[in-house]
Amino acid sequence: MEYFDALIVGSGAAGLYTALNLPRDWRVALLTKEDLRASSSDWAQGGIAAVIDPTDSFLLHTEDTMVAGAGLCERQAVEVLVEEAPERIAELIHLGVSFDRYQGRLDLTLEAAHSRKRILHAQDATGRELVRALTEEVLVQPNITIYEKTLVTDLWVARGRCWGVRTRRAGVAAYLGAPVTVLATGGASRVFLHSTNPPVCTGDGLAMAWLAGARLRDMEFVQFHPTALAVPGAPRLLISEAVRGEGAHVLDRQGQRFLSRYHPAGELAPRDVVARAIYLHLRERGEDRVFIDFRPVGQQRIEQRFPNIRLTCAQYGLDIFEEPIPVAPAAHYCMGGVQTDLLGQTSVPGLWAVGETASTGVHGANRLASNSLLECLVFAHRIGRHTGLNTLNYPPPPALVDQAPPSPAAVQTILRQLPVLCWEACGIVRTALDLERGLAQLRLWQEWLAQADWTLDREALEARNQILVAYLLLQSALWRRESRGAHFRSDFPETALSWQVHTVIEHDHWSAQALKPDPVVYR
Ligand code: FAD
Ligand code: SIN
Repeated sequence: MEYFDALIVGSGAAGLYTALNLPRDWRVALLTKEDLRASSSDWAQGGIAAVIDPTDSFLLHTEDTMVAGAGLCERQAVEVLVEEAPERIAELIHLGVSFDRYQGRLDLTLEAAHSRKRILHAQDATGRELVRALTEEVLVQPNITIYEKTLVTDLWVARGRCWGVRTRRAGVAAYLGAPVTVLATGGASRVFLHSTNPPVCTGDGLAMAWLAGARLRDMEFVQFHPTALAVPGAPRLLISEAVRGEGAHVLDRQGQRFLSRYHPAGELAPRDVVARAIYLHLRERGEDRVFIDFRPVGQQRIEQRFPNIRLTCAQYGLDIFEEPIPVAPAAHYCMGGVQTDLLGQTSVPGLWAVGETASTGVHGANRLASNSLLECLVFAHRIGRHTGLNTLNYPPPPALVDQAPPSPAAVQTILRQLPVLCWEACGIVRTALDLERGLAQLRLWQEWLAQADWTLDREALEARNQILVAYLLLQSALWRRESRGAHFRSDFPETALSWQVHTVIEHDHWSAQALKPDPVVYR
C-alpha cells in the first residue's frame, strides 16, 4: 500500500492545475483512467473568459455570469471566479500557453450572452494548447507521480472521512492513501445519447462521491450545446459557439434564419435558449437537424480562427466555405456536481472536488460560455494554495476481495440502453411522466447493481456510475417543478420565485438549500 500527501483523480485542466499549485514539497499522485490527454479539457474549443479589455469590467463579467445562471449563481463564488481570472491567465501565459494575438495584443472574441469581447482563444483548439502546456509542466515536476491507465473505482471512506482511493490498474486492485483526495473527474454528459464529450466523461467522480456520502447539488442542470455536428454515423463533434460569435448564421432546411423568432439576440442568445429554440423548431417540422452557415464570417477569418473545425468537417465530406453544415443540440456540460466551499472542500472531510465534477456555485442553472476552463483554473489554484496537511493515523484498508463480476451481456445492455433513456426522459424538454418512466427502468438496473462487483472492469464500473448519475439526474429533474436555465419542464414551463433554491442531495434525500444572501431575483 502506498501513501501520498495528495491524490488527484483526473488529468484535465482541473487536475493538472491542482497538481501544479500544491506545495512542491508534497508527494502528489495524479491518477487518470486513460492517458494524460484524454479529457474534455483537451477537446475545448472556444476559449477562456477573462476581463482583459479596458472597456470590460469585473462587474460586467459577474452580471453576465449571474444572468446566464438564471438566479442560482452564488454571487461570492462568481466574484472569486471573475476577479481571480486575470492572474490565472497571466500564469498561463508565463507557462507558455500561446493565446492568439492581433497586432501584438491578446485577440479577444465574443460568445453568446457575454456583453463584451472577453474570450481568449488558441484558434479553435484552446483546450489542446492549455493541456499541452500544463502537461509539459506536470511531467517535469519531481514531486508528482503520474499513474496513467489507472481507474479509480471508489473512495476509501471510514470513520467519517476520506482516506484515499481504491484503484484498478491492469486488472489489479489496490488502495492508495492520502490526507487530501481531490476529485477532478470531469462531467457526465456521456450518459446522454447525443453528447459533445469524450468517452471518459461517465460521471465517475459524481457517483463515487455520492456513494461516499458527499453532498451533491443541482444535478438537474445539464447544458445542451446547440450546435454539434449531425452527420449520421459520425460522433457529435462540437461546432464552437465562437463560430456564431464571429457572425455565422443558423438556418433551417428551407435556408431561413429563425432564431430571432425565439429571442431578440438570435444566434447570440443564451445557450439554453438557442438549444431549446432549435429543438422546438425541429420538432414542429418533424426534422432532425438545422444548418450552420460559416460564409458570413469570411474566408480569411475562417481559415485563421477555425482550422480544426474546417478539417473535421472535411473528413465528413463537408466544405464549410461552400455550404451550410448540419448541426443539432447535444448534451455538453453538467452545471451541478459535488458541492464545495470556495476552497474546494466537500462535505466529507479529506475530500475536495474541482472542475466540472464540483458545484462551486459559479454556474447556477446555466453556465456562461467559456467560464468552465476558467473555473477549473481558479478553484484548482485555490485548493493548491490553501489546503493544509494533516498527519493521519490510517485505519487498515478494507480487504480486497473479488466477488463475481456482472455478466458482460448485462453491462452491454445497459451501456446501449441507458443513453437513449437519458436523452428521451431527461433531455432538452422534460415531463414528470417521462421522468417517472425512466426512473422505473433505472430501479430495475439498480437491482442488478446489487448482485455483483461492478468495479471489476472499466466498462462495468462506468455502467454502475452512469446508472447512479442518471438516477440522480432524473430524480432531481422530477423534484424541481419549474423551468429554469437549462432545466425545462413542459408540465411546469414557468420560472417560480419559490424555486429559487438549490437542489441538494444527501444520500437518498432531496431538499432545498437557500442561496447565500443577496440572490438576484430572476423571473
Ligand atoms: P476533464 O477535462 O473532463 O478531465 C477529467 C479527467 O478525469 C480525465 O482525465 C478523465 O480520464 C479522468 N477520470 C474520470 N473518471 C476517472 C476515474 N474513475 N479514474 C481515473 N480518472 C478518471 N469550456 C470552456 O470554458 N471553454 C471552451 O471552449 C469549452 N469547449 C468545450 C468543448 C468540448 C467539445 C467539450 C466537451 C467541453 C468544452 N468546454 C469548454 C467545457 C470544458 O472543457 C470542461 O468543463 C472542462 O474541461 C472540464 O475539465 P475537468 O478537468 O473538470 O474535467
Ligand atoms: C464552445 O466552443 O462552443 C464551447 C464553449 C464552452 O463550452 O464554454
